[in-house]
Amino acid sequence: MTKVLKIGGSILTDKTFDMTARPAAIQAVAEEIAAYPEDLVLVHGAGSFGHIPAKKYGLPQNFCPEGLRVTHNSVAKLNDLVVEELARAGVSPMPVHPFSCLLLRDGRIDKFSLEPIKEMLRDGLMPVLHGDVAMDATLKSGIVSGDQLVPYIAKNLQAKGVAIGSNVDGVLFSGKPLAEISRRCLSSMDSSLGGSAGVDVTGGMKGKIMELLDLADWGIDSVIFNAAKEGNIGRAIMGEHVGTRVRRSN
Ligand SMILES: Nc1ncnc2c1ncn2[C@@H]1O[C@H](COP(=O)(O)OP(=O)(O)O)[C@@H](O)[C@H]1O
Ligand SMILES: [Mg+2]
Repeated sequence: MTKVLKIGGSILTDKTFDMTARPAAIQAVAEEIAAYPEDLVLVHGAGSFGHIPAKKYGLPQNFCPEGLRVTHNSVAKLNDLVVEELARAGVSPMPVHPFSCLLLRDGRIDKFSLEPIKEMLRDGLMPVLHGDVAMDATLKSGIVSGDQLVPYIAKNLQAKGVAIGSNVDGVLFSGKPLAEISRRCLSSMDSSLGGSAGVDVTGGMKGKIMELLDLADWGIDSVIFNAAKEGNIGRAIMGEHVGTRVRRSN
């Protein structure tokens, strides 16, 4: 019963400042995850460690070797902070860097061998992936967001639970979180669905929903919830309805 959890960069970092981690938030997230470590793939966002250097170097539009290196090394540092904190909380985490093991085509994941991740899960390790830069077969290079990694992994591992933690109570409409959202009700709320309040080159809430509606079309529902509220991560991992459920239209 594999579950996929994403924790947004908005929780782990300050997205308005260059490479600013939130150590207390990383610790709180790690401790909550440590209570439910079984068969869990963790993906975290890049936050300020990725979006700010990516913007500075004009990624993903520009092919820039220095930008790729600096951005990758930066998000790998955030990954290291998360992995170390999980280890301290008693989990057996392992870093998985998308740049080294997947290929994009036109900005979408084309090849990504999940065998090592499956083996980690079988052996009681928790794979910890992150939003990253990546090589692209047609565009030379690109960005693979945590939000794109989640549905790819969930589909291919036939995940039984998918939860996306961010810094809002779900998908907000007129200031309130929707209980659920499907493709059918999307057009009526398009104007209230936006990008990120911080620096986010991968589409903010709108990008998230597009990825998750695609996953719902595939038959896997998910929730978008507030990972800053104590207890929510555990509830989301256990399959409780926290925040907004993204589901297939009837
Ligand atoms: N309708 C909406 N509901 C919720 N959040 C929205 C909405 N429209 C735009 N947003 C923005 O999307 C942000 C979440 O996306 P993002 O910043 O990319 O978070 P993460 O770092 O978790 O991926 C929210 O903090 C908010 O600023
Ligand atoms: Mg984001």
